[in-house]
Amino acid sequence: MTESLLLTNISWIAAPARFERGKPLYRINYPEADSILIEDGMISWIGDEADFPEQPDVKHVNIGGLGITPGLIDFHAHPVFAGTRENEFEMRTRGASYSEIAGAGGGILNSAGKLQKTDKKTLIERTLPYLDRALEYGTTTLEAKSGYGLETNSEIKMLQAIQGLDEKHPLDLIPTFLGAHEFPLEYRNNHDGYINLLINQMIPRVAEENLAVACDIFCEKGVYSLEESRTVLSAAQKHGLAIKLHADQLSPLGGTRLAVEMGALSADHIEYIDDESIELLANSNTAAGLLPVAAHFLRMEQDPPVRKMIEKGIVCALATDFNPGSAMCESMQMAMHLGVIRFRITAEEALWMATIGSARALDLDDRGSIEPGMLADLVVWRSENISMIPYHFGINQVEKVFKRGVLVVDKGRRIGAVSGAAE
Ligand code: NIG
Ligand code: FE
Repeated sequence: MTESLLLTNISWIAAPARFERGKPLYRINYPEADSILIEDGMISWIGDEADFPEQPDVKHVNIGGLGITPGLIDFHAHPVFAGTRENEFEMRTRGASYSEIAGAGGGILNSAGKLQKTDKKTLIERTLPYLDRALEYGTTTLEAKSGYGLETNSEIKMLQAIQGLDEKHPLDLIPTFLGAHEFPLEYRNNHDGYINLLINQMIPRVAEENLAVACDIFCEKGVYSLEESRTVLSAAQKHGLAIKLHADQLSPLGGTRLAVEMGALSADHIEYIDDESIELLANSNTAAGLLPVAAHFLRMEQDPPVRKMIEKGIVCALATDFNPGSAMCESMQMAMHLGVIRFRITAEEALWMATIGSARALDLDDRGSIEPGMLADLVVWRSENISMIPYHFGINQVEKVFKRGVLVVDKGRRIGAVSGAAE
């Protein structure tokens, strides 16, 4: 049982409205209240301190006139890796493309080579500082994909590392199996051989050992074709996993259509989504996953038609895509900034997508807003209003973070960290 807290002297509360089909999306409510009561890690009351009946076991915490939003939710991330790839970053600076580097055995295969040689304990230790920083920047729930193992034992090791991190760290990690992130070199000319491993070895084991809630795939020209994606994702569904796709990122292959057809949680990246796929998304429960940090980092020439999707009533979710190859950034504040600048969304839309939209893309309905019954995952901002968050960029505007009602960040710094600083 955690301590009961009454957060008082709050100057503004931004509570994204829950998704309701047929109702306008992207609304932020601003309850006229200066206090939030937290009991057992949940929000239990929102109102004015003056109306709060004094209770001896409730500790009052003066927020000092700052504002509060829900904890940010990063629904798409690859935070576990065995080494950084700044050498490829330099190669891209000199003109090589992401696909060229990947084609030459770099990219994801580079990360896989390193991860296969790294033990679970080391993986956990080197990931903790990134999680601390994500938390300091306001993230309270983070998806964590495997996908740098690319062989059964290494994929399992990665998912076990994610499980270990989830137990050690206040962030909630939502584990996703991404064994279909690439084809290992030895299977480049034998796709069926690797797919056989995925569907007959890896997926059954991941499901049996409860190591992931969803299965993702890199559905892209030169990686997993539509038919291959369908085979892998059907196997995942048969084993009770939810599905999601890296879709239409570098070419208009049709991954979004497949996502809708198969009932995926989200179709992510979607720079090359076509009009037909937009219509399909609009009539589905599949979210559009927006990853502007990767678009920026890869200098993508084409951006997803976000305004059109918003106008069609599509639920968009925002994430960092944190990974060493295409988005070396664990800050959701930066994702919000780049969402506004590159994808021309408003600050309110960015906040909605980074909270309740992201929660929906992860199929979580206990977080993403501020209302009684939701988890007390809360960020206290130094910002005067929510426009400041994407506007004043490249710095941390977080003052405090409460995770399940426990203060885990104060003055922008992690309290009680078990790790040092990441590179
Ligand atoms: O989401 N597109 C594929 N996967 C990652 C990149 C992973 C990497 O380069 O290591 C992405 O951008
Ligand atoms: Fe990704």
